[in-house]
Amino acid sequence: MNRRMFLQCGSSTLAVGYGLSLVGCRGTDAPDAAFAPYPHDPVRAENFTNPLFIPGAEGPLGVLDVSDVPLALTARTATFPLLAGRASPFLLFETSYAGKTFQNPIFRIKRGGHFAATLRNGLNEPTIIHWHGLHIPANMDGHPTDSIGPGKNYPYAFTVNNRGGTYWYHTHAENLTAKQAYGGLASFFIVEDDDDERLTRALDLKFGETDLPLVIQDKRFSAASELVYQPDATEKLMGHFGDIILVNLTPNPTLEIGPRFYRFRCLNGSNARIYRLVFMRGKQQLAYRVIGTDGGLLDRPYEVKDAFLAPGERLDVLFDASQLRQGDTVFLKSLAFDSMHNEGAMEMAGANRTARLGDSVEFNLLKLVVTRPANGPRAVPARLSQVEPIDVGRATVRKVRLELAGMRWRINGEVYRKDAFPIDARRNTVEIWELHNAQQSMPHPMHMHGFQFQVLSRQNSPKQIRALGGYGNGRIVSDLGWKDTVLVWPGETVRLAVDLSHDFGGDQTYVFHCHNLEHEDAGMMVNMRVRA
Ligand code: C2O
Ligand code: CU
Ligand code: CU
Repeated sequence: MNRRMFLQCGSSTLAVGYGLSLVGCRGTDAPDAAFAPYPHDPVRAENFTNPLFIPGAEGPLGVLDVSDVPLALTARTATFPLLAGRASPFLLFETSYAGKTFQNPIFRIKRGGHFAATLRNGLNEPTIIHWHGLHIPANMDGHPTDSIGPGKNYPYAFTVNNRGGTYWYHTHAENLTAKQAYGGLASFFIVEDDDDERLTRALDLKFGETDLPLVIQDKRFSAASELVYQPDATEKLMGHFGDIILVNLTPNPTLEIGPRFYRFRCLNGSNARIYRLVFMRGKQQLAYRVIGTDGGLLDRPYEVKDAFLAPGERLDVLFDASQLRQGDTVFLKSLAFDSMHNEGAMEMAGANRTARLGDSVEFNLLKLVVTRPANGPRAVPARLSQVEPIDVGRATVRKVRLELAGMRWRINGEVYRKDAFPIDARRNTVEIWELHNAQQSMPHPMHMHGFQFQVLSRQNSPKQIRALGGYGNGRIVSDLGWKDTVLVWPGETVRLAVDLSHDFGGDQTYVFHCHNLEHEDAGMMVNMRVRA
C-alpha cells in the first residue's frame, strides 16, 4: 500500500468518526480528470478570456498610499460582480479618501511610515482586522479576542518597521475567520523600502502594469453564480476547496504583456488550497526567478521551475517575458502534486463537490499573451537585499507537535482556548522552533503573528519536497528569506529561528496557528505570549 492510499484509508476513519457513510478505501488515485468540464473550469485553457483585474487608483483593490492618512475602514456586506459580471454577495472593506472610494484597498506605505485607520464593523457579526506579517504591538495585531461586535469601532495606529515586501490584511474574527475571509475580507499591504525601489528602478517596473499583485483564491459558486460557503463536517476537518480559481477576483483571467520582465507578487489567499506554481509555454516549463517571500526581498534572485505556495504565503517572482515572441502564450499554472490529505475521503462521504478540482490535476491560473512591443531592461540585479541570519548561538529549543487527536487538529495537544498560553516566551530571546507534523496527517501552513522568522532546515520531507531541495538543510525556495508562514508536510520536522525582540510596552499576546482557515477556526491555534 503506498502512502497516499494509506492516508486515504486513514481519513475514512475520520469520516466514520463524523458518522458519514463510508464506501471503502480506494486503491487508486482520485479520478479528478473524470469529472465533466464545467463553466470556468480552470483545466480548460480555452476558458481563459477574461481580462485580469488590474488594481487602479480607486475602486476594488485600488492602491492607497497611506502614510499619515487617518482612514475610516468599514467592513460591510456588498455584492461584487465575480462570475461573468453577475453580482454575488461579497464582504469587503471600504474606505474613502480624497474624493475616491476604495473596496479592499491595497495599502501601500514606506518603511518607517505610520498607519492609522479605524475599523467600523458594518457586518451583522463580530469582526477584526489582522495585518498579516507586520511586526506591531499585540493590541494592533487583530487578536481574535479583540473582535468587535456589529456597529462597533476599533482604532488602529502603528508604525510600519517591516522590510519592504508584500504583506496582506484580512479578517481574524473569532471562529469566523474562514467564512469572512472566503466571503471577501482580505487585501494587500505593500511596504516599500530602498532595496525595493532599487529593483523597481533597475527593471523599470511600474506598479499596476509590470509589477502586479496577484491574489489567488479558489471559490465555489451556486448555479446562480453566487459565492457559496457551507463546509460540511469533512470540509471543516480537511479544509474548504473550491473548483473555480480567481486571480484578483477574476475567473479564468488573461493578461496582455510585452517581452520584458514582470514582477508578480503572488499571494495565496485561499482558505485551504496549496498551489504549485509553474509558467508553461505549451508543454515547456519556463524558468522564473523567486526574488522575495513573506518578509520581502531575498538576498538574490533564485531561478526555479516550480514552487509551492501555501495559504497565507507570498512568493514574489520575476518572470522574464523577453524570451518570448509576439503572439506567444504562456500559462501560470498549478502543477499536479500529491496533496497528502484526503479529498478521497470527501468523495467517499458523498461530499464530492470539491473534488471537481483535486490536487492531482494540473490547472491554469492566468494566461499571458505577448501582444505588446519589446521594452524594458534585460538584466536582473545580481543582489537584491541583505538577509542577516538570526544568531541562534544561545537559542533555546521549543518543540511544537502538529497532530490530529479526538477528531481535532492540535498544536502540542492543545486546541485554542483564549485564556491558555501554551506558547509562553520571553522578549528579546531567540528560540529554535521544531515543528513536527505527524506522519498520518495533512500539510499544515503554520503562521506566526508578530514576528518574521527564518527556516533553518527541513527533515524527513516527502519525496515531492525533497525533489525541490537544494537550498541547504533540505530547504525549498519558499523557505528562503524572512517568513511568517511555513508549510509543514506529513512526517516532516521543520526548524525555525525566531527572534522575539521587540520594543513594545508590556506583555504581548499574539497567536500561532494553521493558516488552513478551517483548521484555524476549529481551534488549530494557540496563544503565543511574549512576556516583557
Ligand atoms: Cu493571515 Cu492569523 O493570519
Ligand atoms: Cu498573520
Ligand atoms: Cu492545518
